[in-house]
Amino acid sequence: MRALLLRPGQPPDNLVYPGDDHPDAFHGGAFEGERLVGITSIYPEAPPEMYRGQLPGGDAFRLRGMATNPDVRGKGHGRDLLHACIDHMRAKDASLLWCNARVIALDFYKHLGLRTIGPEFEIEGIGPHYVMWKAVV
Ligand SMILES: CC(C)(COP(=O)(O)OP(=O)(O)OC[C@H]1O[C@@H](n2cnc3c(N)ncnc32)[C@H](O)[C@@H]1OP(=O)(O)O)[C@@H](O)C(=O)NCCC(=O)NCCS
Repeated sequence: MRALLLRPGQPPDNLVYPGDDHPDAFHGGAFEGERLVGITSIYPEAPPEMYRGQLPGGDAFRLRGMATNPDVRGKGHGRDLLHACIDHMRAKDASLLWCNARVIALDFYKHLGLRTIGPEFEIEGIGPHYVMWKAVV
């Protein structure tokens, strides 16, 4: 799913994130019947150093690899995946969710309560991004 929806044509090493096998990582899947139609992952990682003083303290999780199949978009799967991540974070007493959000997904994340911090920046081979965050209570 990461290869198909997020990083087409990229080498297999680019499809694995450093925190994927962290013991507190959570890998969520959205299903329609037996069919996997969406994915996302979170794992413990502090936000970028330059923003730490401006963001809530406490344990932080980084959201990565959020994607749903084009034919099921707008049906709530992305929202369900994000809520599952937040439930996991609450179970771990974590307080800050953050991510590098693609500009094309900015309004999706804003709709779900995340806010941007800092300027737009480029991730080579993927495109423009913002750091986004949400306090988890
Ligand atoms: C971004 C993405 C995960 C959203 O998934 P989705 O399954 O369509 O999201 P949902 O259906 O749960 O949408 C939740 C809400 O956000 C809104 N929304 C979704 N995508 C949106 C967008 N691009 N702009 C504005 N609103 C959006 C939906 O309309 C819905 O609103 P509602 O609560 O009023 O009904 C999906 O479009 C995707 O996979 N995009 C390509 C990969 C990508 O860019 N991933 C993000 C990497 S940072």
